[in-house]
Amino acid sequence: MSIRQPDQAALAEAAVALEAGRLVAFPTETVYGLGADAENPAAIAAIYAAKGRPSNHPVIVHLAPGADIGRWAREIPDAANKLIAAFWPGPLTLILKRAANVPAAVAGGQDSVGLRCPSHPVAQALLKAFRHGEGGLAAPSANRFGHVSPTTAQHVQDEFGAGPDSPLAMVLDGGASQVGIESTIVDLSRMDSHGPALLRPGQITAEQIAAVIGQWPGLGGTDAPRVSGALASHYAPRTPVVLVEGAALPALLDGLAAAGRRAAMILAGTGAAATPARSAVALPSEPDGYAQGLYAALRSMDNVGADVILVQRPPQDIAWLGINDRLRRAAHGSENTLNALGL
Ligand code: TXA
Ligand code: MG
Repeated sequence: MSIRQPDQAALAEAAVALEAGRLVAFPTETVYGLGADAENPAAIAAIYAAKGRPSNHPVIVHLAPGADIGRWAREIPDAANKLIAAFWPGPLTLILKRAANVPAAVAGGQDSVGLRCPSHPVAQALLKAFRHGEGGLAAPSANRFGHVSPTTAQHVQDEFGAGPDSPLAMVLDGGASQVGIESTIVDLSRMDSHGPALLRPGQITAEQIAAVIGQWPGLGGTDAPRVSGALASHYAPRTPVVLVEGAALPALLDGLAAAGRRAAMILAGTGAAATPARSAVALPSEPDGYAQGLYAALRSMDNVGADVILVQRPPQDIAWLGINDRLRRAAHGSENTLNALGL
């Protein structure tokens, strides 16, 4: 497995590998995806095996710009056409009723299918090269199950290894993902009974969706289609993550230092500086820049040997919803960390 620059030769090789049922990781504007032929159940099974992900979790099918949605979905509500016109290509996934010819494996056995047209030029070039632009690439985020999603080609290699044993044929390098968190997911597969539902918040907000379809998406109850990103603990580094108010940081840092503990910090804007005894990353104080850097920050702070990653709690307003959702999941299960460290 190697990291490849996405020139014509590499794209052609990637398309051949995918058509032969192999896995290729590729960049999207949100995070890197682990791609496989969406119409080949054995290739989809290879995704689940590589990720260590339960096979009842559906994966998103990525389509080239202008692809025929009718090949994948058997009902296309008006709201879907409006959202596609407004936000594709881009970081929005639509859940629709699955067409009969689409393998159930891609949907984790559900009657629906998740569709997205990515805007990243390398993703689009690959989708156009693969089956002349008429196929679909099933691609979950290219990380092992439950880990932080990758936003660079190097992150993908860190997840799956570079050796001959790697389950991937190659990783196409498209630079750092610009959006940085996974796509917004809207369920339109149950419009009659439930209306539109927001299954996963992302850069495209519920407010923007409401403005386009004239209706606020609901929050998808417990019987909503399964979304693995909706598991309580997801996107988690190995080091415990604790969310703290900015004002509480100085005292906490003093306490950790007094207890002989090493802290890592993720800050919004400027804040407590790194010292030899602690590490810090400062992310931008506006949500787009923050999201772009978040997963790289979690990965780097996971690798400094800290006892805890303290994350300064960002604002709670709607523009930060996707970010706060990912942070809450990263912090899940770490509630008792500070107690356990003697604070
Ligand atoms: O931004 C993204 O969406 C990235 C890039 C690679 O496109 N992909 C991504 O994939 O985040 P993944 O598998 O890590 O998360 C996809 C989510 C999952 O939570 C999955 O359950 C949901 O989409 N999903 C896919 N198809 C679905 C379906 N038919 N019904 C319900 N949820 C579905
Ligand atoms: Mg994922």
